Amino acid sequence: MSEAQERAFAELAPQYLLEVPRDVAWTSVHPEARMDPVAEYGREAPLIVEIGSGQGHAIVSAASARPDDDFLAVEVFRAGLARTMLDADKAGVRNLRLVEANAPEVLSTYLPEGAASEVWIFFSDPWHKKRHTKRRLIRPGFGDAAARALADGGLLRLATDWEDYALQMVEVLDAEPLFERAFDGEWAERFEGRVMTAFERKGIAKGREIRDLVYRRKPRA
Ligand SMILES: C[S@@+](CC[C@H](N)C(=O)[O-])C[C@H]1O[C@@H](n2cnc3c(N)ncnc32)[C@H](O)[C@@H]1O
Repeated sequence: MSEAQERAFAELAPQYLLEVPRDVAWTSVHPEARMDPVAEYGREAPLIVEIGSGQGHAIVSAASARPDDDFLAVEVFRAGLARTMLDADKAGVRNLRLVEANAPEVLSTYLPEGAASEVWIFFSDPWHKKRHTKRRLIRPGFGDAAARALADGGLLRLATDWEDYALQMVEVLDAEPLFERAFDGEWAERFEGRVMTAFERKGIAKGREIRDLVYRRKPRA
């Protein structure tokens, strides 16, 4: 990180960054640690979680436009977290928190069950080389973690500029018994609250088509 980013981290982390008990790795979450959203945000409100928030373009814009909702950015890239905090501070955003942690652990243990009204994953790393595709976040088993974190009827929103990853997302999520499609036709409409991010701009500049998806968490029995 640059010196400015380091300084931003030191000055803004107390306000924005959650302190998480770790397990083994630095970005791990201790399996017994649980977030307490009411304590963290000081109120009860719908919680929107963005996985892999990068520089924070989407979540800072959404948190700023929707003061009645609470937002949680999950990211492992420190410079991105620093940028997110700087922009949030500049915009006077108070309903946003950040967690520096591995997303599947946040979904499968750290968030209280059913705490999220929406989970967003925009431009997840495509790991496009054949031998790396098994590292993709949206792969068989991912649905269990996302379904645990989402409230009944909660939405999982995705967007990607990689066609074969989009097809993998559909295959994985169509097969998930806890989710159902919340769109008609081949792909979902672009979600209105999704602003242009650096990665979307890059994909478009390279001539790639952007595909949106949205799945609904089925009610618990
Ligand atoms: C391609 S970038 C997209 C960033 C942002 N959503 C955007 O549209 O600009 C993917 C982001 O996901 C983050 N990421 C990848 N795996 C992650 C994980 N397991 N937990 C948390 N963040 C992760 C990366 O650090 C990276 O910032």
